[in-house]
Amino acid sequence: DSQVSTATVSKVFRGTFVHSTQQDALVVLEDTLLGVDSNGKISFVERGQELENVSAKFGFKCDVTQLSPHEFFMPGLVDTHIHASQYSYAGTALDLPLLQWLTTYTFPVESQYTDLEFARRVYTQVVKRTLRNGTTTACYFATIHTDASLLLAQIANDFGQRALVGKVCMDRNGALEQYKEGTQESLDETSRFIRELLKRKYLLVKPVMTPRFAVSCSGELLLKLSEIAKNNNLHIQSHISETKEEVKLVKQLFPDLETYTDVYNEHNLLTNKTIMAHGCHLSDKELELFHKKGTSLAHCPNSNISLCSGLLDVRKVLSHKVKLGLGTDVAGGYSASMLDAVRRARDTSKALSIMDPTRVPLTFEETFRLATLGGSQALSMDGQTGNFEVGKDFDALRVNVAVPDGPIDLVQYDGPKILLEKFLNTGDDRNILEVYVAGRKVVPIE
Ligand code: GUN
Ligand code: FE
Repeated sequence: DSQVSTATVSKVFRGTFVHSTQQDALVVLEDTLLGVDSNGKISFVERGQELENVSAKFGFKCDVTQLSPHEFFMPGLVDTHIHASQYSYAGTALDLPLLQWLTTYTFPVESQYTDLEFARRVYTQVVKRTLRNGTTTACYFATIHTDASLLLAQIANDFGQRALVGKVCMDRNGALEQYKEGTQESLDETSRFIRELLKRKYLLVKPVMTPRFAVSCSGELLLKLSEIAKNNNLHIQSHISETKEEVKLVKQLFPDLETYTDVYNEHNLLTNKTIMAHGCHLSDKELELFHKKGTSLAHCPNSNISLCSGLLDVRKVLSHKVKLGLGTDVAGGYSASMLDAVRRARDTSKALSIMDPTRVPLTFEETFRLATLGGSQALSMDGQTGNFEVGKDFDALRVNVAVPDGPIDLVQYDGPKILLEKFLNTGDDRNILEVYVAGRKVVPIE
């Protein structure tokens, strides 16, 4: 499966690579040579070959980096839903249900992003922390503030993280004088945000249309935002069916529409580049519409449990062939690490299985796929990222399960599949030696 690229091979790694494909949740490639070209794309993946043969075939002279037996490469983690602006209070304020949590904690904090120095501090921290924990792609909510949202885009770009960045739109139910927009203001500022961000021509950072959720947005705003998204071929993100109380409120706000999903659909917001967070309380009929529209879900298990919102049945979502990724949903979720999202996704599926033993829990291989290829598919980026197929960008973590003073004690060597399982369940950023995005080493920060 080699497709010769014209760009020169600039990095070659030798060792074990683990990744997912559409067919297999876990593929282990031992004794493999992987080349990355000067554009950051994977130029070859050759298993069980002599170095001389591979270097002759692909014509490279660069050094080969040999991994140790306790190391492997895996695809970068994809956080499909994270509020960068809420990172300042992550790990606190988890004592209220969603709607009260928003007005009590979230809106007052988000209103502070008129202060660009505060924004710079928090946004630098969240980009560094998530990269350090292996998030090579993040789909961010910022705040309603255009300039601070542009700053988040700049910081992600500077640190080399692949990102979608959304200026939040909300023209009603802000419940705070200092944190809401007029409808026209929201449209004008969104247009300015998109124009300014596209003008910068960042390779890895793009704008995403971000109506906060149906509770915060008038029908007029939803409709006009969908037009702007369509005209610019943008991704769209929002929240849906996170809590039962919210579903009821949306029904009151849009009495003519049958379901929450219909509200977004009627306003042309369900596209094959739309990602909706949570979806805990979606019906089969709504999931069918998601499938029909090619719209994705971001499963945010830490947040769903921390705010007592609900338990998403991932198997039900997948049975409808709806694209699904994992999200941290900081700060509704208290951890910014996607390893935590992997663990909480497994716990949620096991809790569902405890309540109903006919439900089969997700395997670690399946949660691994959701956190990598699944997330990439959910963000419609799987032509470019998500696994180690030749021609894709090299977004990868170099993992060492046996680092000195690390969190994992290995009594014996059981092979790469067990190493991956141990890392996913008990590892942390100490085990992540290096992070690459589009072939560039972004961790350790140089
Ligand atoms: N729904 C609308 N806004 C938010 C938010 O900031 N966090 C979460 N978890 N849900 C939301
Ligand atoms: Fe959220």
